[in-house]
Amino acid sequence: MPLLRAVNLNKIFKLKKIIIPAVENFNLSVDKTDFFALVGESGSGKSTVAKLFLRLIKPQEGQIIFKGKNIWQLNKEELKSYHNSIAIVFQDPYSSLNPRMKIFSIVEEPLKIHRDYTKSEREEIVRKTLKTLGIDESMIERYPHQLSGGQRQRVAIAKALILEPEILIADEPLSALDISLQASLLNQLIKIRESREMGIFLITHDLNIVKAVSNKVAVMHLGRIVEEASTIDLFKEPLHPYTKVLLESIPGFHRRYRIKMPRISAEDRISWHIKGCRFYSRCSYRMDICKDNTPELKNLGARKVRCFLY
Ligand SMILES: Nc1ncnc2c1ncn2[C@@H]1O[C@H](COP(=O)(O)OP(=O)(O)OP(=O)(O)O)[C@@H](O)[C@H]1O
Ligand code: SF4
Ligand SMILES: [Mg+2]
Repeated sequence: MPLLRAVNLNKIFKLKKIIIPAVENFNLSVDKTDFFALVGESGSGKSTVAKLFLRLIKPQEGQIIFKGKNIWQLNKEELKSYHNSIAIVFQDPYSSLNPRMKIFSIVEEPLKIHRDYTKSEREEIVRKTLKTLGIDESMIERYPHQLSGGQRQRVAIAKALILEPEILIADEPLSALDISLQASLLNQLIKIRESREMGIFLITHDLNIVKAVSNKVAVMHLGRIVEEASTIDLFKEPLHPYTKVLLESIPGFHRRYRIKMPRISAEDRISWHIKGCRFYSRCSYRMDICKDNTPELKNLGARKVRCFLY
């Protein structure tokens, strides 16, 4: 049984008269052994998916199933256990770190609330977790504003991992950091993951990170998954025209997929509401059928693609 499953999720936002189908007919499973990456350009609905998984917002349609149970039909005890099993790291660590608390107390707090450990047991766990993430002993008595951005993000990850969640949802956790810090933090995450089973659902713009760490990828475009594959297959042979464009945008990568891509235009914004394929206005392969018909996400062997070319 998959750990976390989205089934036919639909989330629409209404802004005055504008309707945004931010997540549409979204299906995806994350296993406890997965390092699953969700990619797509800004506004494609990635954070909305994270918020749906975290039960921060409710879908209009569809279900999120955690270990076989719909997360909107849990009783009080089950809900508590769900919140203990799923952890989140956001792009901006400030949002999850209380500025008035010292680093040690920030990381210790979830243990105090959710576990029955003694003070010395808690201290041991906190110190060990901080050490694993490369936070020096000398920092534990400091406040968040006395740390660098990279250190703060490590603390946010330590706090997220302290209850040993079964799944970690990370929404652009590294994008505010410079490249070398990103690499070292990713390595630490990989090490932690090797030491115990934990599904990771990573949301990112950065395809180099996806290639380096994930085993599965889903590509999102304007609210819809357009391609899903193992990371190896996707990078070896991107199928969807949008995935090809994304891979082409990596410097020095996949030159043979060079496709002329117009800038995001007003027309793209309207693409939410066209009847057919939402990539139509930017696609070099477009056909008549694509204009008025929505392609389904089709199974192609072990992968999935939403495009009339297949
Ligand atoms: N609370 C909201 N109210 C109205 N519209 C929203 C709300 N949250 C998101 N949206 C819209 O839904 C769409 C998807 O937003 P979302 O934040 O999920 O995208 P994203 O892929 O995470 O983008 P980014 O990469 O910039 O973080 C966008 O068009 C956004 O403007
Ligand atoms: S369905 Fe048509 S327009 Fe859409 S990506 Fe495929 S070829 Fe391009
Ligand atoms: Mg986002």
